Amino acid sequence: MKRLKPTQKSAKVKDLFEQEARTLNKLGRHEQIPTLYAYFEHDYEFYLVQELVVGHDLTKEINHFWNESKVIEFLAEILELLIFVHDNNVIHRDIKPGNIMRRKSDGKLVLIDFGAVKEVRTIVVGNDGQPTSTINIGTPGYMSVEQLQGRPKFASDIYAVGVTAIQALIRKSPQKFPHNISGEIECETLLSGINDELANILIKMVKVNWHQRYPNAKVALAELLNIKPNLESLIPQQKQGETIKITPPIINNISSNNITQPPESKLEPPSGQVPLNSPFYIERIPIESECFQAILKPDALIRIKAPRQMGKSSLLSRILAHASQEAYRTVYLDFQTIDPEFIENLDQFLQWFCANVSDELDLEEQLDKYWKKVLGVKKRCTKYFEKYLLKEIKTPIVLGLDEVDQLFQNQDLATQFFALLRAWHEQGKNNPDWQRLRLIIVHSKEVYIPLNINQSPFNVGLGIELPEFNLEQVKDLVQRHGLIWSDAQIETLMEMLGGHPYLVRLALYEIASGKMTLERLLELAPTDEGPYYNHLHRHLLNLQKDENLQTAITKVVNAETPVEVGTIEGFKLRSMGLVKFRGNAVVPLCGLYREYFRVHV
Ligand SMILES: Nc1ncnc2c1ncn2[C@@H]1O[C@H](COP(=O)(O)OP(=O)(O)OP(=O)(O)O)[C@@H](O)[C@H]1O
Ligand SMILES: [Mg+2]
Repeated sequence: MKRLKPTQKSAKVKDLFEQEARTLNKLGRHEQIPTLYAYFEHDYEFYLVQELVVGHDLTKEINHFWNESKVIEFLAEILELLIFVHDNNVIHRDIKPGNIMRRKSDGKLVLIDFGAVKEVRTIVVGNDGQPTSTINIGTPGYMSVEQLQGRPKFASDIYAVGVTAIQALIRKSPQKFPHNISGEIECETLLSGINDELANILIKMVKVNWHQRYPNAKVALAELLNIKPNLESLIPQQKQGETIKITPPIINNISSNNITQPPESKLEPPSGQVPLNSPFYIERIPIESECFQAILKPDALIRIKAPRQMGKSSLLSRILAHASQEAYRTVYLDFQTIDPEFIENLDQFLQWFCANVSDELDLEEQLDKYWKKVLGVKKRCTKYFEKYLLKEIKTPIVLGLDEVDQLFQNQDLATQFFALLRAWHEQGKNNPDWQRLRLIIVHSKEVYIPLNINQSPFNVGLGIELPEFNLEQVKDLVQRHGLIWSDAQIETLMEMLGGHPYLVRLALYEIASGKMTLERLLELAPTDEGPYYNHLHRHLLNLQKDENLQTAITKVVNAETPVEVGTIEGFKLRSMGLVKFRGNAVVPLCGLYREYFRVHV
């Protein structure tokens, strides 16, 4: 946990802290950068809670017999890591042995202590509220001239890496490096006896004039990899078992310009809810924070609607986790798992509901006590909550009801149940006990059942329609998969898949794990041989249940411009996630659906 105490209280400092914390948060997704668990501000003091890295920093090993091969290994690893940092538009600004940890568990390097956050502590804000001077962050000896002058560049990090490498080779502190009259480090003297090609790379890394250095980590690494075969043959003293870590895949990937090192161990097959700690979860700002705020309010009701596989359950689980952090009790019920017999009649269903909620809350079910009473069915259920659950549990209780669409199969039951939820919500307006009941209702279909507006929970509370990912969000996902793509490549992917979270995740997973290239994926996607076979086939089966829908989708995928297909069909196709509206007309959601259904319907 780090506490930053700025020298000055101002809103600008707070903004800056938040901005930097967001950057750290983004960077922390790399497995060689500590994860940022939380950040917060209290009375103008700022706190960062970061992953603890167990290991030692390089000051402990850098002076002990790092030979040329060890230095090359170090350069390859740190530059690889810096590519990620620079790609995120961040300059570390304080690279030195003390800020590079060797992790005990796997021996990998971990980059810590990004200078940007330290700036928060030292920033000076002028009368106009703007930062006037940024006091230099960095460590003498490792700081380049332009950084000393307050104008750090990506190349400033390269300088620091070069200095660290030279320090390791000659076992001398950078402050003791001799400089010539123009301020250049006297590399010729210091590196005499070192392999020429390696020396040349280091000389270029530590040039005084940053224009003469490698502009960023990517270019520096590419150069290192270029000379790697020569270096290997020139370093005979390499001990057995001590291999240079620059593995062929990195070289191939760089030259085929697609992949940096994919974080293989961290790749996550995209199916089902995205795990809470997943590095691949993309926030659709401001949806998450809106929901997090809403659920803390008395009598909260949140409705989440989106077609299949758009991230509804993943969002729901995050809201529940947020509520748990506030020590609320939470209940997750997935109506997809309900046995069909329970939705045949309301009495059975409400007993199932009460029993499951009790179970999730670790309370004994007491159906006997309440169902004995001569009350209407809905009233029994209400009393069960009022006299039992809400009395036993003193904190707010959040009910997360996933896939409530399942209930639409029995219209009468659905109407009654939703009217009950609405009535509870209304009770919360005045009754403090009911205010502790918070509801999250998740569904994918439009609600067709005719609900009286005063008896429906679908027109109150906070309504969220989960959108597709936008270009920026897809770009972010591409990077998180360790892929370096041009805008044109990302656009091609989106022409085929739109911003559909699941479709995009699956594509990136297939590509990052090396199963296929982007080109091959695009070729296979709309075919039965491709990775989307199951997804497309399921849609096809659903369409085949309804002749009107088949006619409508055929019309949509064969038209080059938006077409009108009738209100009901339009809404049904949209609920299924197959089309989007353009005014009253519709177009296919993405190229994948256009191509597949043109052939298969
Ligand atoms: N915010 C997100 N960030 C990254 N991936 C996401 C996100 N939301 C959804 N996905 C991708 O979509 C898949 C489905 O997510 P999830 O199960 O939450 O959706 P759903 O709408 O509940 O689906 P279903 O309709 O099948 O219940 C995930 O496995 C993941 O690949
Ligand atoms: Mg779901």
